[in-house]
Amino acid sequence: MTARELRVKFIEFFKANGHVEIKSASLIPENDPTCLFTTAGMHPLVPYLQGAKHPAGRRLTDCQKCIRTGDIDEVGDPVHLTFFEMLGNWSLGDYFKEEAINFSFNFLTKELGIPVSMLAVTVFAGDDDCPFDEEAWNIWRNLGIPAERIAKLGKKDNWWGPAGTTGPCGPDTEMFYWTGTTPAPEVFDPENKLWVEIWNDVFMQYNKRADGTFEPLSQRNVDTGMGLERITAVLQGKPSCYETEIFAPLFAELDAVRGVPGVPANERAASERIIVDHLRAATFIIGDGITPGRVDQPYVLRRLIRRAIREGRKLGITDVFAGRLAKVVVDQFGEFYPELAANAETIFAELEREEKQFAATLENGTKEFQKLIDRVPPHIARKVVSGKNAFNLYETYGFPLELTVEMAKEQGFEVDVEGFNAAYIKHQEQSRAGAEQKFKGGLADNSEETAKLHSATHLLQAALRQILGDHVEQRGSNITAERLRFDFSHPDKVTPEQLKAAEELVNAAIDRKLPIVCEEMTVEAAREAGAMGLFGNKYGEIVKVYTMGDVSKEICGGPHAANTGDLVRFKILKEESSSRGVRRIKAVIGEAALK
Ligand code: ALA
Repeated sequence: MTARELRVKFIEFFKANGHVEIKSASLIPENDPTCLFTTAGMHPLVPYLQGAKHPAGRRLTDCQKCIRTGDIDEVGDPVHLTFFEMLGNWSLGDYFKEEAINFSFNFLTKELGIPVSMLAVTVFAGDDDCPFDEEAWNIWRNLGIPAERIAKLGKKDNWWGPAGTTGPCGPDTEMFYWTGTTPAPEVFDPENKLWVEIWNDVFMQYNKRADGTFEPLSQRNVDTGMGLERITAVLQGKPSCYETEIFAPLFAELDAVRGVPGVPANERAASERIIVDHLRAATFIIGDGITPGRVDQPYVLRRLIRRAIREGRKLGITDVFAGRLAKVVVDQFGEFYPELAANAETIFAELEREEKQFAATLENGTKEFQKLIDRVPPHIARKVVSGKNAFNLYETYGFPLELTVEMAKEQGFEVDVEGFNAAYIKHQEQSRAGAEQKFKGGLADNSEETAKLHSATHLLQAALRQILGDHVEQRGSNITAERLRFDFSHPDKVTPEQLKAAEELVNAAIDRKLPIVCEEMTVEAAREAGAMGLFGNKYGEIVKVYTMGDVSKEICGGPHAANTGDLVRFKILKEESSSRGVRRIKAVIGEAALK
């Protein structure tokens, strides 16, 4: 069975059992500043797991795009993927353990035809937060799973969530498939790697608070997740996802780029796996509106592309090639994920740009590296590249440590790896502190002043669209008590004249003292009314729309000022580049704008 067939089979099975199919949400979480990427099917559903009513009902199913970057340095081994698709079914306060486990069991044994003798499961053993999951145990026993094939494990293994640092979570039960060539052992040993986890049913009954404690959720939910690539491989008897038809066209294109004949799927090198994995992920990330940059998602994207290109160089590729692999991804997935097809040109253009830029960076980095080497007098016995210098090569020129180590070795040098790690950790701590600060600035402070600044960003966006064109869209917003910062898509520097015109438009709207009106409606109604904003994919969801006269209409959570007149005056302080294709404006209102 191919991945494509499995995807359909799964969704059809749950539809036949009363579930409604929902579309995959974006890889970029909409309202979760604690995560850079969507990491699981449940992630976009958090508000509904917490009790909000989902317009499609209480039983949902989908195939969700996911990115997990925690494993980024492990990619290249035969198991890990950065981008993957997760099949899932949900009960939002509807069925619970009995039906969830029955659905899973029936899908595995009847739809996929897996013999019970090849299956084993784990259940939550219990601890201070939540008791042993005897109910799950009994349900599995009644379905015919022998007691020796049910392992009881603790939180580390049988607890899932939250997706970020807070939110819905609970005990789970995981299903394992025997991949050995010998018959499955009677007693299940979860440590035995031949037992491969294929599905996870999470019983979400708790909400984890910011202080680390758990409170019962108002409704009991089921959240399940099955990695599409893994189940495909397992059912095809392949030891690795990379050996399935999912990756075959990508490897074939890579061969074509290199001008080499193909090799059997199980003989692919780590470099090849890294290239296809990273460029697949990069294609999907750009497809969701991110371009390479210096922080957050843009930075992860940049790392993925650059690592793929570096691995390409190891394989002897000197031409620009990322776009060719992206084209394969778009062709393969464009039908199921229409955003890929719709953004294909941007994807190719961004990859090419990043690839060319990185080639230049690599060249400069190599020069910088040589300078470091040349500075060391030849008579020094132990030649070392310091951790600080290695980190600088990493940070400024994108040289991964392993590249520096390799290049150093060629010239008889060692690298102070410990020093590099120390510098790396220090840098990470600093950027984490920065990120926390940012979220505080953007979200936590809901004073009247920030509400007014927030209203000013809506007016500014409307003004910029009027002056620069409809391609202008919000890419980020950060508000402190003193100023607003607004990032938006626009390819060129905004001229002083254009800035002035935008400022005047905003001030004209302020002078008109327009009431700021909030209405609740469905996403579709908002769209029809011409509201701007992140529409995402949550069909039927009720959203707030803020209208400021005939000037601005945006989907937004608020809060806002009551009247544009409250802003008094608006003044742009600065315009600069934020990342490629994204400009940044800082502005003030009120007294500060009158100065
Ligand atoms: N959210 C659960 C997981 O990702 C199903 O495994």
